[in-house]
Amino acid sequence: MAKKKAWSGRFDGRTDAFVEEFTASIPYDVLLYRQDIAGSIAHARMLGKQKIIPQADARKIVAALTAIREGIESGKLSFDPSQEDIHMAVEQFLIRKLGKTGGKLHTGRSRNDQVALDLRLFLRESIDDILAILEKVQEAIVARAEEFFGVVVPGYTHVQRAQPVLFSHHLLAYHEMLTRDQDRFRDARRRANVSPLGAGALAGTTFPVDRESVAAELGMEGVCENSIDAVSDRDFAADFLYACAVTMMHLSRFSEEMVYWSSAEFGFLSLPDALCTGSSIMPQKKNPDVPELIRGKAGRAYGNLVNLLTVMKGLPLAYNRDMQEDKEPVFDSARTVKESLIGAALLIRGMSVNEGRMRGACDDGFLTATDLADYLARKGVPFRKAHEITGKIVRYCEKNGKRLKDLSLKEFRSFSPRIGEDVGNFVSLTNSLRMRNVRGGTGPRRVKSRLEALKKR
Ligand code: ARG
Repeated sequence: MAKKKAWSGRFDGRTDAFVEEFTASIPYDVLLYRQDIAGSIAHARMLGKQKIIPQADARKIVAALTAIREGIESGKLSFDPSQEDIHMAVEQFLIRKLGKTGGKLHTGRSRNDQVALDLRLFLRESIDDILAILEKVQEAIVARAEEFFGVVVPGYTHVQRAQPVLFSHHLLAYHEMLTRDQDRFRDARRRANVSPLGAGALAGTTFPVDRESVAAELGMEGVCENSIDAVSDRDFAADFLYACAVTMMHLSRFSEEMVYWSSAEFGFLSLPDALCTGSSIMPQKKNPDVPELIRGKAGRAYGNLVNLLTVMKGLPLAYNRDMQEDKEPVFDSARTVKESLIGAALLIRGMSVNEGRMRGACDDGFLTATDLADYLARKGVPFRKAHEITGKIVRYCEKNGKRLKDLSLKEFRSFSPRIGEDVGNFVSLTNSLRMRNVRGGTGPRRVKSRLEALKKR
């Protein structure tokens, strides 16, 4: 049977039992209990300091809130749907402890500014966690890129072997992506870290609150300048969900490579047993579940972003109950990104590399054809023409079952008299890499210096 509500003054009858459950957010917003209590403690202290409530009451409230947090953590306090949401639940615990004094906490505040604050604080913490794990993944990348320095692998376009690259260069590409991911999260953090408290329900409050001191106590960088905006918008949460979606997109591409590079067909990598599972029917199988699940979970992250944008798109200002739907996508994306990053770090640390297979794949497939064209261009053949000549040479090789390095000088010269003795050197893998000594390129010296720079960071 439904219990008496905090807002029951205006109501005649009890809430329908289904409606009570349907409207409750407590089953999931319990996750916000720490943020909710932190916000309430800052608010109560300010109420006391501003003499909006007696200092002694403020002190009692702060002590009781601290005890409530401990009660929740130890499991002594439990929740039920009649409490509606975490804000009501904490207030109910407070009133149970302090009686009338507990009822003073909500002075000059609304759940509308309170919930916006809680979500902002939650995002801030999630972002700090994510940034720390992102850094771990990057450390793992740098360590392995250093370990495998010198290993050559085909670089691909259209999943066709294209040009040889250092495996380290390939790994470090992900490092760059993750650096931009960090930027996106930091940006989202900056916009989230602003206090809406003082906005009240939507129009501000009649009490002489000190918004800045509350914000400062909570470690926030400022206050929302418009009370209607403060309780209405969730763009800061969408920023976070977008950052999560992009990170998951990066992790998903990485995972995709883990999956197929560890297949028998490629055989470039193998994943440690600890990160794989077997099949219930095929005894020979070792499945790359971790990267597959990371790849699969990108779907949630995209969904969560679209979810929130859709919830928000038709809402008139200011608060609407629809906005209660903002929380689950945020919680889900935060968890998904954290877990996926932990999985990615395990994969990077645990994978073993089959250098022979990688090099073997570079040996056939004409990976140095571009170098041959560049060679001709250096000898004065216009690049377009050089491209055409090289194309003909490749066709000739294919027909005769030869690789570029198998051709004799005579065979080469039958395609262009400009080809000289030095061509053999030019079309070697080592030379192909060495010549790409452009900033950002796969030339070993460039990769090494990038690696050193990243190690120092
Ligand atoms: N549980 C609500 C939410 O998550 C809290 C705010 C409720 N405000 C209101 N006016 N009913 O959005």
